[in-house]
Amino acid sequence: MKINFAELATPKNGAVVVGVHEKGKLSTSAKLMDALAKGALRRAVRNSRFTGKSGEMLSVIAPAGLSVSRVILAGLGKSPDELESQNLGGRLLAYLEQAGEEIAAVLVDDGVGSPSAPNIALGARLRSYRFDKYRSKEKKGKKTRLATLTLHVKGATQARRAFTSLDKVAEGVALTRDLVSEPPNVLFPKSFAAEVRKLSRLGIKVDVHGERKMRELRMRTLLAVGQGSQHESQLAVMHWNGAPKSKTTIAFVGKGVCFDSGGLSLKPAGAMEQMKWDMGGAGVVTGLMKALAGRKAKVNVVGVIGLVENMPSGGAVRPGDVIASMSGQTIEVLNTDAEGRLVLADALWYTQSRFKPKFMVDLATLTGAMIVSLGHEFAGVFSNNDDLTGNLVAAGAATGERLWRLPLDKAYDKMLDCDIADMKNIGGRGAGSITAAQFLQRFVNDVPWAHLDIAGVTWSSKDTPTVPRGGTGFGVRLLDRMVRDNYES
Ligand code: BES
Ligand code: MN
Ligand code: ZN
Repeated sequence: MKINFAELATPKNGAVVVGVHEKGKLSTSAKLMDALAKGALRRAVRNSRFTGKSGEMLSVIAPAGLSVSRVILAGLGKSPDELESQNLGGRLLAYLEQAGEEIAAVLVDDGVGSPSAPNIALGARLRSYRFDKYRSKEKKGKKTRLATLTLHVKGATQARRAFTSLDKVAEGVALTRDLVSEPPNVLFPKSFAAEVRKLSRLGIKVDVHGERKMRELRMRTLLAVGQGSQHESQLAVMHWNGAPKSKTTIAFVGKGVCFDSGGLSLKPAGAMEQMKWDMGGAGVVTGLMKALAGRKAKVNVVGVIGLVENMPSGGAVRPGDVIASMSGQTIEVLNTDAEGRLVLADALWYTQSRFKPKFMVDLATLTGAMIVSLGHEFAGVFSNNDDLTGNLVAAGAATGERLWRLPLDKAYDKMLDCDIADMKNIGGRGAGSITAAQFLQRFVNDVPWAHLDIAGVTWSSKDTPTVPRGGTGFGVRLLDRMVRDNYES
């Protein structure tokens, strides 16, 4: 979809969108179109249940006096903020494509109470995402895609500039969604690493380590997870040095289990296919790096992703095996399905010792228990640092990718104590997401650290205004915002 910005004008063809405030009060541009349409818009509002509330939409087809295909009245509610402007853009995109429109223009007023044009465009872009590369037959008549969206706004040049940077974030989100959507026979550790290597075009330095190098580094817990698979495990490291004068680096670490069968502690067959997106944390780190490099963020960032496949086989790690991690601590593997924490134990240790980051944030589809506690609305955040948590929670609220903090505590940590090794890889019956986070914390030294358990938000079974169902990309907008608001020089 081509997105343009232009100064205010009356469009001659395609669909035209104008805003209406609460209680049916036409915006300035709606009044303008209404005058050209000889009052048809006002009459339509009067004769319908449309009241201008946020989310409402009313279509007036081919009004006399105008050459356009339709005028869409879009409810603005009470002065829409950034997020509501994005939602408006997303809803419009879905509505226009459903209606079969290929060209559309949105007339955006300026001044208080008006939506933000760059954010409308971002919402449309995010909603227009599709993953249809494997569909060889498309249902006839269903495939209309909006080809051109023009936002008419005063100060088009400035709006275009603002959108250019937002669009880079949307590109990062799209990459994450692609990675999460790819089937596990296509996306496995090596092919994932190959996708990561493509980011070097943007100025990201990429290093990929295979099993030989990881054995040298003594990353035995990560390797243990992948040892039952036909696919070689990989550790991919991405560097974006956007602030060359600064010595500080921030770090993001991702769980990249390209398929989680559970290993010898095999998962039941029902919904096992969902475990193709158990690399969602790694997907977010990769998409985030693309977003940051794309918009040339003035910050030094390292992204580390542990890529493995968790499979049962004669060579697989067994329940009962004791493994020494890179940190030197030993782990009794009691359940091979609690594998994400084993991958992250070494990835976190490696990241903090190798790069000495100012802070590190990991992302993982770590526990099913997360879905039990927070469902699909909030992701869980666990942290040893209140400032870092505050920045994350604020960025989550600003982007609509919301976080809820859960506790860490000695009493939970104790649940991991083990008779024959330093720890076991599962806790007790309750608090599964917390004991998983406690496990990770055993591999974190003094560095400020936060763990995002994104098990409930990585995949969506329903469309929302800016996120079509499927891979959500949850985390990219949030972390991009967190970096932009707090850590750029
Ligand atoms: N990848 C799963 C967690 C998961 C489940 C993510 C459902 C998204 C949807 C993780 O590796 C896992 O299997 N966790 C176990 C831990 C248990 C064995 C302690 C779980 O949640 O059941
Ligand atoms: Mn598992
Ligand atoms: Zn898993």
